[in-house]
Amino acid sequence: MTDRALDVVEFLLTARVYERDTDLDENDLPPAVRSALWDGDGVPRPPQATAEAVAEATDVADPWDEVASLMFTEQDSFSGRIRLVDDDMAKEWYANRAEAPRIQANPALAATYEDDFDDVDYAAAREANRPVQADPQWIDGLLEDMFDEDDEEMLDLVEVQAPAEIETTLDDLVLTDEQQTETQKVSKAIEHRDYLAQVGLVEVGKLLFVGPPGTGKTSTARGLAHRLDLPFVEVKLSMITSQYLGETAKNVEKVFEVAKRLAPCVLFIDEFDFVAKTRTSDEHAAIKRAVNTLLKAIDEMSLVKDDVLLVGATNHPDELDAAVWRRFDEILSFPKPTKPMRADILRIVTRGIEVEDFDPEALAANTEGLTGSDLRLVLREAVLDALVEDRTTLSQADLLDAVESFEERDHLRNLDSLEEAVETDDEGAHDHGHDHDHEHAPADADD
Ligand SMILES: Nc1ncnc2c1ncn2[C@@H]1O[C@H](COP(=O)(O)OP(=O)(O)O)[C@@H](O)[C@H]1O
Ligand SMILES: [Mg+2]
Repeated sequence: MTDRALDVVEFLLTARVYERDTDLDENDLPPAVRSALWDGDGVPRPPQATAEAVAEATDVADPWDEVASLMFTEQDSFSGRIRLVDDDMAKEWYANRAEAPRIQANPALAATYEDDFDDVDYAAAREANRPVQADPQWIDGLLEDMFDEDDEEMLDLVEVQAPAEIETTLDDLVLTDEQQTETQKVSKAIEHRDYLAQVGLVEVGKLLFVGPPGTGKTSTARGLAHRLDLPFVEVKLSMITSQYLGETAKNVEKVFEVAKRLAPCVLFIDEFDFVAKTRTSDEHAAIKRAVNTLLKAIDEMSLVKDDVLLVGATNHPDELDAAVWRRFDEILSFPKPTKPMRADILRIVTRGIEVEDFDPEALAANTEGLTGSDLRLVLREAVLDALVEDRTTLSQADLLDAVESFEERDHLRNLDSLEEAVETDDEGAHDHGHDHDHEHAPADADD
């Protein structure tokens, strides 16, 4: 018997246990099984274990071939459904071949075998299983329910990603010491939010990421959602000024409703400086109303109560006023990377590419003032230049050339924006977490 047969039987058994035991719900199914059996707004009883569903969940191309010779399986030639004809035989067959950790990864089966294996514990299995709220199909279903066609503008304002859809993880990012500490702290806070509520510490879970464009603010917020296995809800504030002004304040309320329905989740509000601008300038009343709604909603939101981690981001801290600063519990600075950080970023972005004579330190010395995003662009340039010469290999010289042409273009671009302060690289100073950005947060000036 192959492992593939074990995979297929496990799937069939899981579906059968779920069908029979009505105390179980979708959160007792491993995500792959749940997603293969999903039907619009849940997993029906009985679940539709078609050959395609089995193939999707197990990655076995011809599931029936794997289990046809077993005494306890049968295929309906009309519907293509594979089913168990003798549950007890199937259970025994599976128990003789599966190890405890495998069962522990499947809450429905953990419930079945809890008494037969020492290391199998249903409650723990369910606790460790990724919740249904993090599945792409659950998120899509919720958004469809909440927003009908009249709400089209809403879909411009908010974008939701399931954790499995997030590509850049925290491991792909080079973080400062302060950023590492803060991401760890907030991970712990989420994990222990019940405890925090118990001890009355409710002022956690609202972070503001501050720093120039391309320094990893968005990627870090996404990476956090990925690490915590939570949905990532992103709001683009500039979309508030879209043409559908009348409904805007209502839409902002809906964004927060989405976040609460998806909770636990990460709510990321980018372009936070937009808020400050509308408070001071003489904007359309509907936008002002929307911004006030937003600030009020932020005040009412709580990690401990609502299970929503709020992350704001801004490229322009100087535009934020005290009323905005005081809404966040923690300000996390995203400075331009130092030389050692640039070398590390270069190592990461070239991971999939062979570079002859690669010397990241030398490149780092040559790229003062460039952000992580700039370094990615440099690499892209070098790869494309090489392709033009029909090469898929790169050398250090190619990268150095790409840096040079990047800086020429960057120089032209900067002639337009002289007000942007030239950042100096403080290689020697190691407290890059404490740059000037903090000075913009007055201690207790209020509005
Ligand atoms: N510190 C970093 N380490 C690795 N990659 C980085 C870093 N900062 C930025 N990048 C890369 O640059 C790109 C843009 O980053 P992003 O998170 O969108 O920046 P921001 O939101 O601050 O403008 C991403 O592809 C990201 O991977
Ligand atoms: Mg960003």
